[in-house]
Amino acid sequence: MNKGLAVVVGGSSGIGLATAARFAAEGCPVVVTGRNRDRLDQAVAQLRASAPGVSIGGIAVDARDPQLGEQLARHGELQHLVLAASGGSGAGPFSQVGADAVRDGFEAKTLAQWTALQSALPSLTDHASITFITAASARAALPGTAGLAAVNGALEAAVGPLAVELAPRRVNAVSPGVIDTPWWHGRMPAEARDAYFAQTARALPLGRVGQPEEVAHVVVALAMAEFVTGVVLPADGGAHLATGR
Ligand SMILES: NC(=O)c1ccc[n+]([C@@H]2O[C@H](COP(=O)([O-])OP(=O)(O)OC[C@H]3O[C@@H](n4cnc5c(N)ncnc54)[C@H](OP(=O)(O)O)[C@@H]3O)[C@@H](O)[C@H]2O)c1
Repeated sequence: MNKGLAVVVGGSSGIGLATAARFAAEGCPVVVTGRNRDRLDQAVAQLRASAPGVSIGGIAVDARDPQLGEQLARHGELQHLVLAASGGSGAGPFSQVGADAVRDGFEAKTLAQWTALQSALPSLTDHASITFITAASARAALPGTAGLAAVNGALEAAVGPLAVELAPRRVNAVSPGVIDTPWWHGRMPAEARDAYFAQTARALPLGRVGQPEEVAHVVVALAMAEFVTGVVLPADGGAHLATGR
């Protein structure tokens, strides 16, 4: 049952792509989605090369587009659904983050993952796993992250009620800390990014930022854990702990 089809919404890069690779390594057929067709094609080629003989597909569609449901239905029954899509704004000092920025953050992440789950619902098996990818900002209580905490905290708050409402499907979330993915490479000059990673690492019990494969390991383990539902599992190097550093 666990080796059924795994769909990663937002699976053409970073944590989603690493998660898709991990599912494929476990022998699960995989479908990844993303908006940018070139990036998606590259991801599909990379996954096929790393897991010869495993069925790998790609769907180029926005997670918020109802067409996602129609396209997923063509792939048959779905055993694992991972919701990794994000983007949008919401970071910054509270006095400077206006309603439009927070609304954009909700649209790009909370509602993208929410809508994608609704689209996929008719294709999910009765015992499917559903895993949201949220963020440590939901609970880390760092200055400048109130908007991100609202966006990710909303998803984390939905995990419990969804785990009850959609049972016996299992609903969980993995909450990453700072992870070195292409997301950071597109947004910051290398020097500023390295400085931020070093500063973050110093404050963490594990003393470093994470790699996408490390989060993928947690996502797939949780998806395969047949007696676990309704949990939010940090994969953050200890960012959820108050270390006093
Ligand atoms: N990296 C970190 O430090 C970090 C920390 C905490 C939480 N997270 C969370 O982890 C998840 C993955 O982040 P990442 O760092 O791996 O980002 P990433 O490398 O930028 O990958 C994001 C993926 O989501 C897809 N995507 C974004 N918006 C989409 C939409 N509306 N519809 C469909 N696909 C969409 C992207 O492809 P297209 O752009 O082509 O659509 C891409 O495949 C996100 O939810 C992020 O908030 C990341």
